[in-house]
Amino acid sequence: MDTTTLDLTTGYLGLTLRNPLVASPSPDNADLGHLRQLEDNGIGAVVLPSLFEEQLSARARWLDDLERNTEAHNPEASGYFPPQVLEGPYGVGPDAYLELIRQARAALDVPVIASLNGATPGGWVDHAAAIEAAGADALELNIYYVPVELEQGGREIEERYLQVLSAVRAKVRIPVVVKMPPYFSAIADMASRFVDGGADGLVVFNRFLQPDIDLSRMTLSSELALSQPEEMRLALLWVAVLHGRLRCSLAASTGVETSEQVVKYLLAGADVVMTTSALLRHGPGHVATLLAGLRAWCEARGVASLAEIRGLMSRERLRDNVAGVYERANYLHLIAHYSSHQAYRALFGKGAHHRVP
Ligand SMILES: Cc1cc2nc3c(=O)[nH]c(=O)nc-3n(C[C@H](O)[C@H](O)[C@H](O)COP(=O)(O)O)c2cc1C
Repeated sequence: MDTTTLDLTTGYLGLTLRNPLVASPSPDNADLGHLRQLEDNGIGAVVLPSLFEEQLSARARWLDDLERNTEAHNPEASGYFPPQVLEGPYGVGPDAYLELIRQARAALDVPVIASLNGATPGGWVDHAAAIEAAGADALELNIYYVPVELEQGGREIEERYLQVLSAVRAKVRIPVVVKMPPYFSAIADMASRFVDGGADGLVVFNRFLQPDIDLSRMTLSSELALSQPEEMRLALLWVAVLHGRLRCSLAASTGVETSEQVVKYLLAGADVVMTTSALLRHGPGHVATLLAGLRAWCEARGVASLAEIRGLMSRERLRDNVAGVYERANYLHLIAHYSSHQAYRALFGKGAHHRVP
């Protein structure tokens, strides 16, 4: 509950959020009780876990099979059960997903954002219309694609992303937000093309899950590592670079553990700040902790509204004062800083620290 005059109200995708903290997709968000707890602890909006292309394509194949089979009226007799993949990683099939949206929309006051996750333009995107009809306030699009082919060029991959966006955009009127990967060679150009292609917002960034090798079993390790705060820097850089330059909302995502990261992302220029790993680690009560930290930081500095701090440290705002901020000059500065720090330690001992002005 708000106890001060500090205004955390935030615009995101044309929606009004009571604050900029958004619970990004996570297995817990498939549970209505958990979503309620997030709301009770103050969350600004929730994103449901994704519905995956593999689930929707499996359902389409299953329905095709049913239609071709003469015993289609009795699928149990014909043995045409939906394959396991239909339920997806969260045990929520395409129809159950629509029901989850309906229930979440009815149970919560905060915006409920659905998520579609795929890699190819295809019939699966048709489900976006059903997601809208079920009552989602917006749709997040996670295009998770690993381009392993030697002969596949960057432009072709970029076009694939834009085609998926365009197909989804054509199906719905609700806001669509693209969860961007950080691996394009021209992030700013790609961000701008997503906006031209109909994205109302960008999530900066999606976090790809690289495999590890389990040496004792000689298998690929399937352990999913939650994020660490140090991982925020890539997203921080690009939020700061993009802020104020695109006609779309910006959501910062990756590495939020404490309110410090929330403040940093807002200073870089994020409209909203998303968190998954921290909520998986600490539970829904952590939302209140993050918001209390944000409030305390603002109040200690006499900040009355987030508009006063949003983008204060963005490239646009800093560049008149600091040459090459966020660019190559900053890279050289960081190396120079490190080198002088090392030289100082060599002279005065290992425990010594100094600040380079
Ligand atoms: C267990 C787990 C499940 C996730 N499931 C999804 C998902 O269904 N869809 C999606 O877009 N992102 C998914 N994510 C990614 C998160 O939404 C988020 O982008 C990522 O974890 C980085 O944010 P964080 O540093 O706050 O964790 C998942 C992450 C985790 C850890």
